[in-house]
Amino acid sequence: MSSERLERLLKRTFLDYQQTMEFLRAPLVIDRAEGLYYWDVAGRRYFDAIGGIFVAVLGHRHPRVVAAMQRQLERVTFAPPLHGIADVTLEFVEKLGAVAPGNLHFVKAFSGGSESTEAAMKFARQYFKQTGQPGKYKFVSCYAGYHGGTFGAMAASGTGRRKTKFEPQAAGFLKTFLPLHYRDRFATWEEANRFAAQAFEDLIVAEDPATVAGVMLEPISNTAGIVTPTDDFFRLLREICDRHQVLLIFDEIITGFARTGQMFAAQTFGVTPDMICAGKALSSGLIPLGSMIAREDMADAFWGSLEADVQFAHGHTYAGNPLACAVGSAVLDEILEHDLCGKARALGDYLAQRLESLRALGVVREVRGKGVLRGVELVEDPVTNRPFPPDRKLGTFLKRTALANGLILRIDPDWFAVCPALIAERSDLDEMVELIERSLRDALDLMAHAA
Ligand SMILES: Cc1ncc(COP(=O)(O)O)c(C=O)c1O
Repeated sequence: MSSERLERLLKRTFLDYQQTMEFLRAPLVIDRAEGLYYWDVAGRRYFDAIGGIFVAVLGHRHPRVVAAMQRQLERVTFAPPLHGIADVTLEFVEKLGAVAPGNLHFVKAFSGGSESTEAAMKFARQYFKQTGQPGKYKFVSCYAGYHGGTFGAMAASGTGRRKTKFEPQAAGFLKTFLPLHYRDRFATWEEANRFAAQAFEDLIVAEDPATVAGVMLEPISNTAGIVTPTDDFFRLLREICDRHQVLLIFDEIITGFARTGQMFAAQTFGVTPDMICAGKALSSGLIPLGSMIAREDMADAFWGSLEADVQFAHGHTYAGNPLACAVGSAVLDEILEHDLCGKARALGDYLAQRLESLRALGVVREVRGKGVLRGVELVEDPVTNRPFPPDRKLGTFLKRTALANGLILRIDPDWFAVCPALIAERSDLDEMVELIERSLRDALDLMAHAA
């Protein structure tokens, strides 16, 4: 494609959360993908260290999942949502419920993450209306967290750059801070976590628990920089929610499906929430798919006669789509049959070790995460922990050098994250970390010359 045509076409669309003019400096136009790699239209290969965007947990175009989709294409691709449900959708409900923690067996499939978080919040509000506490409607979430781009999900999100342009936000969404926000004010990480958990309770009490429906958070927050709280933080949060009859809702759209070492991060941290929102890896990138998973006993509040009119007043045209559910079931089967949770734990330890070796570059403050979901915080001085100044962020340069080295990462100005597909072996991680190291060195060079 000529550069004129490319520019003309890019001007007719937009890239997610990106400035198209900046993208045009080195536009990545994808031609194909397989396993751990992408190829662009010029035939250049890229190591995909992030599964597209935390999606391709089994790598791109996994043969088993492609075959499941092809089989379903030959049967039915759309069931009439107001009249019936596909058998594969029911199978998916059973499979996803079976791998969720506790009695989280109530499942509704949607077409992505934002639909799932929106639905979870609507479900929580209607649940309280039908169980004698109609005044509970507020949600508590975190600054720097992300729950999606639609209006309710955006209101629950706390990333300034993605919110302020659309203010005013919906009412009833309250925010507090993740433990990372407090870390430098306490002697230990454990204390910062306990303080952050207590702040949730202080907020709920100050707002009046009779008005608070739920706490929504990502067990490991990506947009905040792979913030990884302690098990104790989640134990305390569970106790706080129980004390005030507030639902604990985990947004596992990034942390779900084996990558943290268990099917869900809830299991990794040893806490059972009341609801889970899933997406991304659930289809390993074949088709849009998300899900809302809730305690089965919560669903009792929605069970009644036609006259009672208590059904969940919600739906989407493509919700529970048979093609997507056939794909989701195949992904779950593959994870279970090959113990990819165990593989994520083993590979994750090795990955953490390899990323720690980047400290030799003198710009790493911390390596965080669980399993194969890892983040690396970048600072100008790792002794004093002084960050790079706002106009010279290493991540900004890394964005350019990583692509030039054939590497796709999740990069923020002050950190980067990886989440390699679980088809990777140690040698693939070696290749990935070598590319990261080379890209960081190039970024430091580029920054030095830009100064
Ligand atoms: C934690 C989290 N929640 C929700 C979403 C929204 O999902 P989607 O983009 O599929 O709507 C995302 C997307 O990046 C996410 O990372």
